[in-house]
Amino acid sequence: MFIIENQVSGRIFQTEGRDNILNDALTHGLNFPYGCQKGFCGKCKATIIEGEVGYKGEIPSGITPEEVEKGMALLCQCRAKSDVALVVAELDGVADIEVRTLPCKVQSIKHLNHDVAQVFLKIPDSESLQYLAGQYIDLIHPDFEPRAFSIANAPSNTSLIELHVRLIEDGKFTNFVFNELQEKALLKIEGPKGVFYFREKSEKPIILVAGGTGFGPVKAMVEHAIETKSKQTIHIYWGARDEKDLYTDLPKQWAKSHENISFIPVLSQANSAWKGRTGYVHESVLVDFEYLVDYEVYACGPPAMVKAVADTFVKRGMFKEDFFSDAFEFAFEGGAL
Ligand code: FES
Repeated sequence: MFIIENQVSGRIFQTEGRDNILNDALTHGLNFPYGCQKGFCGKCKATIIEGEVGYKGEIPSGITPEEVEKGMALLCQCRAKSDVALVVAELDGVADIEVRTLPCKVQSIKHLNHDVAQVFLKIPDSESLQYLAGQYIDLIHPDFEPRAFSIANAPSNTSLIELHVRLIEDGKFTNFVFNELQEKALLKIEGPKGVFYFREKSEKPIILVAGGTGFGPVKAMVEHAIETKSKQTIHIYWGARDEKDLYTDLPKQWAKSHENISFIPVLSQANSAWKGRTGYVHESVLVDFEYLVDYEVYACGPPAMVKAVADTFVKRGMFKEDFFSDAFEFAFEGGAL
């Protein structure tokens, strides 16, 4: 087992040296930059400060002999042959990530409850989509306008995209996904998009507020935090109408197995059998936290919920800079975000 250390971020992971260093890094939740993953584009280039790496065959075309001489390597093509210390700038913002249009195939569609479907899209092996946890893609079908969906899985899997699609009564596209879309169907995606993503450098405790399928990007963020072994305290609040709208047990399981994660479901139209919290989800947070000065807040869900979170949390001391939402057009009361 070898230890790989990125001297820029100080992050460390272990590898058996069987896979390329880029894949190992992504599996451990490190956002190393990449493009083609074929050795052509050079986007995964890093400087090896210490240790030995090797390529399977010839040196790939994405790096020059002079660069190899200087100690540089293409991480998508080389494996560790010893402990390695390297230097590479991990992605920490969306500016460096290329928005791409890619073909994809529907791998599976599973109905998680009466009105939410989990859709897995497979990107061809020759391609990959790099994104940050929390971002979204546009799903493209020739018969419909492109529709935005948040990516619901962590970025460590570069070829599989998970979406949570809620059936909207008069929504042609979501009705199509629910009733006509078949496994193996071919679609396109464009992305990644959006500035709603997990800020990894912060050490502040986090409050994640999700409404309905707003749980999708929250899932991507928490999975990413777990993969990176983040010690940040994470409070998850998930608001829904009634119990059947809480379409997965995952947050309960996270809270059980990680002491830095807590989970509180909140129902706005609970029946009498419900023993948990009731009311609007943001109100539950306000009951639990008198001051929000020290917290980072991520809110994802219906615009009215996001607005209620922003307006009321600011009054409890939350800094506007510590608030992140996926609402596309949103402004704090009395001023732009
Ligand atoms: S990602 Fe293109 S050369 Fe490595």
